[in-house]
Amino acid sequence: MSTEPDTAPGEALDGELATLLEVETFDPPAEFRERALLNDPAVYAQAAEDPQAWWVAQAEQLDWFQKWTRVLDDDDPPFYKWFTGGTLNVSYNCLDRHVIAGRGDRVALHWRGEEGQERDITYAELLADVERFASALKDQGVQKGDVVGIYLPMIPEVVVAMLACARIGAPHNVVFGGFSAEAVRERMEFSEAKLLITVDGAARKGKTAPVKDRVDEVMGDLATLQTIVVVRSLGTPCQMKDGRDVYYDEITATADPACPPEPLDAEHPLYILYTSGSTAKPKGILHTTGGYLTGVAATHRYVFDLRPESDVYWCAADVGWVTGHSYIVYGPLANGATSVMWEGAPDYPDKDIWWEIVERYGVTILYCAPTAIRACMKWGADWPGKHDLSSLRLLGSVGEPINPKAWLWYHKVVGSERCPIVDTWWQTETGAIMITPLPGITQTKPGSATYPFPGVFAEVRDESTGEPIQEGQGLLVLTQPWPSMLRTLYKEPERFIETYFKRFGKETYLVGDAARRDSDGYLWVIGRIDDVVNVSGHRLSTAEVESAIVAHADVAEAAVIGQHDEDSGQAIVAFVTLQGDLAGDEQTVEGIRATVAERIGKFARPKRIIWADDLPKTRSGKIMRRLLRDIAEGRALGDVTTLRDPAVTEQLEGQVKEMQAQED
Ligand code: WTA
Repeated sequence: MSTEPDTAPGEALDGELATLLEVETFDPPAEFRERALLNDPAVYAQAAEDPQAWWVAQAEQLDWFQKWTRVLDDDDPPFYKWFTGGTLNVSYNCLDRHVIAGRGDRVALHWRGEEGQERDITYAELLADVERFASALKDQGVQKGDVVGIYLPMIPEVVVAMLACARIGAPHNVVFGGFSAEAVRERMEFSEAKLLITVDGAARKGKTAPVKDRVDEVMGDLATLQTIVVVRSLGTPCQMKDGRDVYYDEITATADPACPPEPLDAEHPLYILYTSGSTAKPKGILHTTGGYLTGVAATHRYVFDLRPESDVYWCAADVGWVTGHSYIVYGPLANGATSVMWEGAPDYPDKDIWWEIVERYGVTILYCAPTAIRACMKWGADWPGKHDLSSLRLLGSVGEPINPKAWLWYHKVVGSERCPIVDTWWQTETGAIMITPLPGITQTKPGSATYPFPGVFAEVRDESTGEPIQEGQGLLVLTQPWPSMLRTLYKEPERFIETYFKRFGKETYLVGDAARRDSDGYLWVIGRIDDVVNVSGHRLSTAEVESAIVAHADVAEAAVIGQHDEDSGQAIVAFVTLQGDLAGDEQTVEGIRATVAERIGKFARPKRIIWADDLPKTRSGKIMRRLLRDIAEGRALGDVTTLRDPAVTEQLEGQVKEMQAQED
């Protein structure tokens, strides 16, 4: 493994701005600091001195049916357990306790549909919906421990479904709506899901996609899947299979309106979320109950300085990714926040929809991805300029390194230089935010996620010696367990150890990102060191895309790389060798893109396809992606001494030049 990330450091922090960011720092505005929940830097030292006491203080903010007997069980690393002996229920913490405390009338979700439909759902209403649906799931034979698949768009039912699963102790396996039905099938198969909750059709930018019919096309022979629950969202007709398929509204209408929350062990699985790794097979990240909720609630409260009684919080992610799990659903609801939930894209019906939403609901905290900020930047300041954004008081960023230019735009145009920005680094695996400014304490530098959250311990390690680096670039690691950490890879404990705990031993979590530590101790996350690409904040493995491409009948071999991209952070570039002497044309390109859309999802389609007579390989047959990156970027090739056949790269360089000439 090399620290060479898919995005070279110079690209992530482009030239002129790299100099700027070394000098330009931003203090928390005085007014913000004074009122912030955390404004004393001593919190870092206190948490560092006794991390368990810090996390206990956070866990105590939740309601437990039974208190834990042990804070951290580290008898068998890396299989850590937190708050063992304790029992709680996540849906109780997210709903019942707010209602019991008299906050049932508070809006939990301001849902807004693509065509302007609105639904304000209070905590009391959400609880009622969740109880009914939890009863309905039980009626359908779902028991504690059964895996339930969820493949839904951004509609309130997705939140209801997740919480209903949590209420009865059925771990959910949510698949992002942008994934294809094939990808859903694969994830249902790996997790042996018993029931799948999906929708008749989904709205996207004024069009509708027939979701249920697509699911039917691929799901037919999956023996473990006994039931499909269909939410009638758009009312589009779809096929229902007798004995397997039921409508959400019908099963909830007849279900018991009361469903008491199941007291669950702190380590009871809350969910599985498949994410991409180095190989084509996605990894089933497993999160459990007590530690996860502790981590997401604490980070959500302090990183966003949340005032549940007055803030309107909006995380503009999709529920199907971990950001949605932790910061649309579990963190905000555990904290009793009022959130906005937006069904659609940032440019439909028009490019000011986000700002219209901020104005309409008086959003005070906005959390989104740099790719969206870059898109808004490209569309221009006139769009946000049309709306009153003065309600905003805090801005957040997540999913990929934010380039200083986008950071400054976010700060100036969206935040009117008034709102602190929290650039939050974390992963599906970490469950909650790990490296981030605290808005009332930390001086920020555009492009740096700054310091670990209190109670989190990060280091940059030298790639060859493994020693901690005080200043410079290396491998990012987390050196102590934290409550919301993944517990294992579902059904693949060996792979769990191999992926994260082989390099530096069972007590040091290998993140998979390269990072730099500057002379002030600030952390700059640069990008992945493995074969994971990040397209518009969507995490994909090159191997996954390659195996989809080779499924196309004309393709013999494919190699995929992530190339730096102005808009999406990284874009997928595929080098493709066709069968025999077939020549690639526009039609082949479209065919390949369609195959990828079908196997994974549209968001994984390669942006560029480069025809390759052969691929550059080492003598042992390993594809040299480093050279492919140089070729795609038109850079001088790095070390080619290990190359089996040097002529291969010449053909590719020629091909790229020819394509560029055509584009120009
Ligand atoms: C990248 C998303 C730089 C990183 C929450 C990580 C970031 C991967 C940041 C995880 C950030 C996420 N700065 N890089 N603020 N946030 N990343 O699992 O490479 O979808 O390893 O979780 O996104 O992506 P995942």
